[in-house]
Amino acid sequence: MTPATPVRLSNLSTQSFNTNAGSPIKGKHILLGLSGGVACYKSAELCRSLIKQGATVQVVMTTGACQFITPVTMQALSGNTVYLDQWDTRIHNNMAHIELSRRADAILIAPCSTDFIAKLAQGHCDDLLSTLCTARPATTPLLIAPAMNVEMWQKPATQRNVVQLRADGCQLFGPAQGDQACGETGMGRMLEPEQIIAELNCVFSPQSLAGKRVLITAGPTFEPIDPVRGITNLSSGKMGYAIAQAAFEAGAAVTLISGPTALPTPYGCTRTDVQTALQMHKAVFDQISGQDIFIAVAAVADWRVENTSAQKLKKNHEGDTPDLHFTPNPDILAEVAARPAPPYCVGFAAESENLIAYGTEKRLKKNVPLLVGNIGHATFGQDLNELVLFDAQGYSSLPLADKTSLARQLIVAIAVRQTT
Ligand code: C5P
Repeated sequence: MTPATPVRLSNLSTQSFNTNAGSPIKGKHILLGLSGGVACYKSAELCRSLIKQGATVQVVMTTGACQFITPVTMQALSGNTVYLDQWDTRIHNNMAHIELSRRADAILIAPCSTDFIAKLAQGHCDDLLSTLCTARPATTPLLIAPAMNVEMWQKPATQRNVVQLRADGCQLFGPAQGDQACGETGMGRMLEPEQIIAELNCVFSPQSLAGKRVLITAGPTFEPIDPVRGITNLSSGKMGYAIAQAAFEAGAAVTLISGPTALPTPYGCTRTDVQTALQMHKAVFDQISGQDIFIAVAAVADWRVENTSAQKLKKNHEGDTPDLHFTPNPDILAEVAARPAPPYCVGFAAESENLIAYGTEKRLKKNVPLLVGNIGHATFGQDLNELVLFDAQGYSSLPLADKTSLARQLIVAIAVRQTT
C-alpha cells in the first residue's frame, strides 16, 4: 500500500520546530483568575507557559492577589489589560462580568484561596472575579488550583466547600502535598505551572482513551558487567515519557515502567523504576493483568552479561580484556503479545537503515497490531522525531514534529485502531 504521506526521514538535528504545534490549549482563550495567596508568584510563570502553548490569556485579579503580585507584571506577561474591578469603565457596556466570561474557553483560578473556594461554593458575587465565575455560561469549564496552608485546607468548612464545588461541576487541579511557604508541611501547595498545564491539556484533549489502562515501557536498560560498569544505549526516554503524558491527557490510567533516565515523572502517571531488562520484564508482568494497551517504547538491551563480577574487574598489565559471556534477554513485547488475551500491543523499532523493510518485518515477527518505526540513532536524546506506523494495512508516516506533538498524534492513532 502506498502511504498517505510520503515517508521522508529528515536530518533531525539540523531543524528547529514549533513545539506547541499539537498543544490542545493552542488557540484557546483562558481567563486566568488570581485570588490572594503567596502562590501568586507561580501565576506569572503559568501565564507565560499558557502563552507559549499558544493560548491567549485574560488576567483578572482580586484585591488580595494584588498584595502578592502586581497587575503590571501580569499585564506585561499576558499582553492584555488586567481587570480588577467590576466597575471598570474600559469595558464598553460596563458589564465586565458578562463580557469577560463570554470570551473565555475556560476560567482557571490559580491560586484559588480558601476564601475564594468558599465564595464559589456559596455563589457570592462581591468582586469581579467571583461575579464572572457565577455569570459564566454553563458550558465554560471552571477550573481551580487551590493554594493554602495545610490547616486551612483540612478544615471541615473547606472540605465541605470542595465537595460542593465538585458536585457543581468545578474541576480541582491539586492541591499537592509538600513544604509550604509558611514553613509548615502538608496538603495545600498549588500545583506547579507545568502540572496545571498538563491538567488543562486534559480538559481540552479528546478523551479518546477514557477508562483505558495503559502500560508503557520507556528509556534504556542498563546491564551490569561489575558493580561499577555496565552496558546501556543512548535512549533518553523522551519519546516514551511524552507518550505516557499524552495517554494521561487522553483520559487513560497510565503506568510507566522506566529504565534509567533523568526525566521527571509525567504528571498524573504512576512510575516504576528499573535498571535491567530482567527487572523490566518482571515489572511488566507484575502489572500487565487488566491493561487495555501495552506500548513498548523502551530500548531494551538484547543481551546481558551472564558472568557478571561481584567485585570490580581489575585491569591487568598484560593488556588482557575481560572474558564476558552474553546471554539473550527475554523479549518483553513478544511475550506480552503472545499471552492468551493480550492487551492491544504497540512496539517500537529504532533502526539505522531500511526502516520500511525492517519495520514491516518486525511487526510480523513480534506479532503486534501496530509497530512504530523511527531512525534510532538520529532521534535518541533529541526533541524532534518522525515516525512511521506499520499495521496490517501497510504503513503511513507522522512527519517531523516535536515528540510531545507526535505522542499526541500516536495516541489518537492507537485509540482509533484499538477500538476497531
Ligand atoms: O527486537 P527489537 O529490540 O528491535 O524490538 C524493539 C521493540 O521490542 C520495542 O518495542 C522494544 O521496547 C521491545 N523489546 C522488548 N524486549 C526486548 C527487546 C525489545 O520489549 N528484550
